[in-house]
Amino acid sequence: MDFSGINQYVTEVERCMRTTPRRASEGEKLKVGLDLGTCFTVIVVLDENGRPLACEMESSNALKDGVVVDYHAACETVKRLKASAEEKLGRELAECTIAMPPGTEQTDSRTHRYVAQAAGMEVTGIIDEPTAANLLLGLKDGAVVDIGGGTTGISVIENGRVVFVADQPTGGTHLTLVIAGNRHIRFEEAEAYKLDPANRSEVLHLTTPVIEKMGQIILDEVKGYDVKTLCLVGGTCCLEGLDKVIERYTGIAVMQPGNPLLITPVGIALAHGNPAYAL
Ligand SMILES: Nc1ncnc2c1ncn2[C@@H]1O[C@H](COP(=O)(O)OP(=O)(O)OP(=O)(O)O)[C@@H](O)[C@H]1O
Ligand SMILES: [Mg+2]
Repeated sequence: MDFSGINQYVTEVERCMRTTPRRASEGEKLKVGLDLGTCFTVIVVLDENGRPLACEMESSNALKDGVVVDYHAACETVKRLKASAEEKLGRELAECTIAMPPGTEQTDSRTHRYVAQAAGMEVTGIIDEPTAANLLLGLKDGAVVDIGGGTTGISVIENGRVVFVADQPTGGTHLTLVIAGNRHIRFEEAEAYKLDPANRSEVLHLTTPVIEKMGQIILDEVKGYDVKTLCLVGGTCCLEGLDKVIERYTGIAVMQPGNPLLITPVGIALAHGNPAYAL
């Protein structure tokens, strides 16, 4: 699969974090995606044709394993991101589509909706995370695996259609915990250590058993399907070498776009307005 078009598109979205390509007109239809993640909350705004207009992102501790644990903090984060995007675009964002880890309880998805509403956005669509990612990736056959901060979402695709989704409570937070335990340092220090490219080989060495466990989780979930390709997305896949560990362990070919962190948030925005995901 050739990721060059996707990589270029995501680079355009990243650029929107620094400069706004243009303001949005009042009557213009916008595609707004809200990703309430365990580590990052992201709002992506696209125009009707899918061209990127805004991308606002903030790290937050308001969620644990994909579930809102600090409602007030989650609302405040979304309010800030929304206000910042609105100021840059020169208009209000009244609606959005949100995403949930696959198989989330109704109560949890309701909480996500309340957070968006409290920030002043009506939720008009809902999609699961790995399926959102595939709206951008366009994988025809295989599995999309979204390894985020607290959860790993898996979506099996056959003939371009999602035939199975699953979610497991594992992600980058677990890698950080292993580093913290091994180096006898606090979680925050371990997170900074993990993200420093200078520590890449040590981080990979320390976390390989956890990454292999993620590989086992993937194997267990896709069992029964003829999956020949895994497409990795989610911030944890930014760890250089993780893809090779997963490929070696699972024996399934792995591919991954240039910036795996923004694929799911962009996919959520792409889902906005699509009747298949309307509430
Ligand atoms: N360069 C990097 N190397 C290693 N890990 C990274 C890197 N960049 C980001 N991460 C990790 O990615 C995770 C966040 O990814 P992402 O934004 O996809 O998660 P999330 O959507 O907030 O969480 P979830 O989907 O599980 O609710 C964090 O654990 C962070 O440490
Ligand atoms: Mg996520």
